[in-house]
Amino acid sequence: MIVEERKNITSSESHIRGSLLSYQLDTFGFYGRTEFKNICLEVYEEGMIRVRISRKEKFDNFHYALDNNLNQKSIDYLEKEDSIVISTGKVEVSIMKAPFRLVFRNEKGEIINEDDSSFGTSWIGEQVTTYKKLQPDEKFIGLGEKTGPLNKKGHGFQNWNTDHFGYGTNTDPLYCSIPFYMGIHNNMAYGIYLNNSYKTHFNFGASNNRFSSFSADAGDMDYFFMHYDSVNEIIGAYSRLTGKMSLPPKWSLGYQQCRYSYYPEAEVLNTAQNFRDKEIPADVIVLDIHYMEKYKIFTWDKERFPCPETMINKLKDLGFKVVVMCDPGIKVEEGYATYEDGLDKDVFIKYPDGTNYEGEVWPGWCHFPDFTKPETRNWWTEQLQSYSDLGIEGFWNDMNEIATWGQSLPELIEFDFDGAKGTTRNARNIYGLMMAKSTWEGAKENLNGKRPFNLTRAGFAGIQKYAAVWTGDNVASDEHMLLGMRMLNSMGLSGVPFAGFDAGGFIGNASENLFARWISMAAFTPFFRGHSNVNTKSSEPWTHGEHTEEISRNYISLRYRLMPYIYSAFQEASETGTPVNRSLAIDYTFDDNIYKTAYENEFLFGGSILVAPVSSEKEIEKIYFPQGEWYDLFTDEKYEGNNETLVECPMEKLPVFTKASAIIPVQSQVYSNQETPNEQLEIHLYKGEESNSYVYYEDDGDSYAFESGEYYKRSISYQPDKNKLTFGSTQGTFQSAFKEVKLYFHGFVTDELNSLAIDHEDYHFISPLSNFDPIATDLHKDYKIKDLAYTTFKLINNEFSINWK
Ligand code: NOJ
Repeated sequence: MIVEERKNITSSESHIRGSLLSYQLDTFGFYGRTEFKNICLEVYEEGMIRVRISRKEKFDNFHYALDNNLNQKSIDYLEKEDSIVISTGKVEVSIMKAPFRLVFRNEKGEIINEDDSSFGTSWIGEQVTTYKKLQPDEKFIGLGEKTGPLNKKGHGFQNWNTDHFGYGTNTDPLYCSIPFYMGIHNNMAYGIYLNNSYKTHFNFGASNNRFSSFSADAGDMDYFFMHYDSVNEIIGAYSRLTGKMSLPPKWSLGYQQCRYSYYPEAEVLNTAQNFRDKEIPADVIVLDIHYMEKYKIFTWDKERFPCPETMINKLKDLGFKVVVMCDPGIKVEEGYATYEDGLDKDVFIKYPDGTNYEGEVWPGWCHFPDFTKPETRNWWTEQLQSYSDLGIEGFWNDMNEIATWGQSLPELIEFDFDGAKGTTRNARNIYGLMMAKSTWEGAKENLNGKRPFNLTRAGFAGIQKYAAVWTGDNVASDEHMLLGMRMLNSMGLSGVPFAGFDAGGFIGNASENLFARWISMAAFTPFFRGHSNVNTKSSEPWTHGEHTEEISRNYISLRYRLMPYIYSAFQEASETGTPVNRSLAIDYTFDDNIYKTAYENEFLFGGSILVAPVSSEKEIEKIYFPQGEWYDLFTDEKYEGNNETLVECPMEKLPVFTKASAIIPVQSQVYSNQETPNEQLEIHLYKGEESNSYVYYEDDGDSYAFESGEYYKRSISYQPDKNKLTFGSTQGTFQSAFKEVKLYFHGFVTDELNSLAIDHEDYHFISPLSNFDPIATDLHKDYKIKDLAYTTFKLINNEFSINWK
């Protein structure tokens, strides 16, 4: 069908408008043309539409970020005079003919998102941009590892993976690029993922009051528009699109101790022993670059580490795993096996004349593996084998932006792109992703059924499939600590549930208070690691004075008590994409208060624990309690929601609260995740008015047996109207490590619980209801919860309920 072409508005540089000249529709999509553009719209889910606009005949096929299992859906459409309307059930998109532009509506016909009426999708030179009309009071969240506020309205950002030592609170860009954001307005939310790895730009109404926009310096406009009823569902859709985090080994969720660098061997062992002597739980010692011989990856400094295997075994006996630094730079040096083998197998990135690129980094002049080439990925797996042979299960991908001295990776360098060929211009942003993928897949292959832990600094959308991400070289300051919380929450909003920062700050020395506060807070972040720069104070919990050590011990210990809750939250994230750290924008999206500067750092850790980050100098702070009722985790003091309240927060007490109706599993104190807790699982129930269904999860913690059904999963549901707590029957074939439950009733008056009963024949309480259990107070050694009633009972696999009518 031909539609009359209106005059295109063009300047010498810009192509901004065009009308549909022709189009076709079939069950799988819409394909149209304007004078300059080739257009395609496809539906992947009822709330997910892909828009591709190109000036070439054939669309780019950039797929590194996307999940392999994506399937298109057939479409319903209606042809109108001025438009073609595609309906998915959840979204209706009107493709306006003259000029060509897109308008997305929800089921009620309300506009969720629409192209700017004259700019639409247009080019300036090679750069392509889509302009969206700013909606009244629109907010913008997401975009991964970005500085700045939670609501990014009025700000502009770039994606160009960059090593920025000691970045500031507004520095952009940083190490990791995730071109995915969500817009929020009029009680609606949508997500946009820009599937283009060139340098990209996002403008959320910065320096203009007309549009938000996203652009790529070259390549196609290729974006996925997502709309569901909640921010969490949109994160779920984005996670299906770019892949979900693989369930990490449980040991990696413990405390990880890092230093640039621990050496020699005696210092490593000493550090590990100190944790045990001081009864501070920890799971990992991280080896930074000094373990290598002159920073050459896959070698060991023979003087500092004469026998790595013996050391690793000794650490194992102490309950520690080792994570090793993996830098991509391969030193150009005759006789260095990795270099020679790499030359032999032709694995390095190249200049267009075919010579291998050389850049300078820790070891000196280096070549860099081309992880976009299948042969290189195989070669990397072979290289990594030497680590697995030593018993190493943890890998740290660093400097993979690619960082080189001078920080100006030439743009003409060529990359294989699995045969499709590319240059630095489209490869830089995905180099970290592809390195992490290679390390992850290689380690997985080498570890014969054990789950590797993989950490990366650089990444791109989809990085969650392969690695945890940490926020690089931060600074020991209050501002940075709070910024870090926002960055981690933003990673959670952007599909990366496993993220962390250098607790204590990498650059500079934290004061005692700052260090204590930072560790307290970091205990409630997904990836929990202390790390510090060479020539600064180390970040072991005992280096900042006794009081700080005590506070650190307290919060690290608490993290291990909460491990059943944390592990279940990770499992949920791996299944649904719902992050572990949940910015309040997820559950309280339309509450304007949560975007205020004073409250924007608050988050839920898992589904039920509210953490209010506060700076180290504050002893009292105003906290915003979102809708509902909240209990102080350490005292059970109750707070009403929709309220700003002053709360005391001396150094020892981070403001942490549980949501009314929460169900929180807690285990006995262990000192590493490889230690088995005792057989009694505590379940803490917090009285509330709303029903709550919690999913508890357990498995062996370090193999893939869960993929074939060896897990233990059950729902625990609280129905306040029925005064009932129901343990659903167990799913999976794994036997829980716990044999009995000690159920704590928070916020109940004892009288209410007098007629406590179990509705299962031949099944009785081990202990009847008791008042005030002193043991229940040990979530914080300085605070007591009074009159806490509990009961204990055996755990059976069948469904059963506890009633108190
Ligand atoms: C840069 C990383 O960001 C930092 O954490 C590490 O300690 C140094 N490289 C040395 O490897």
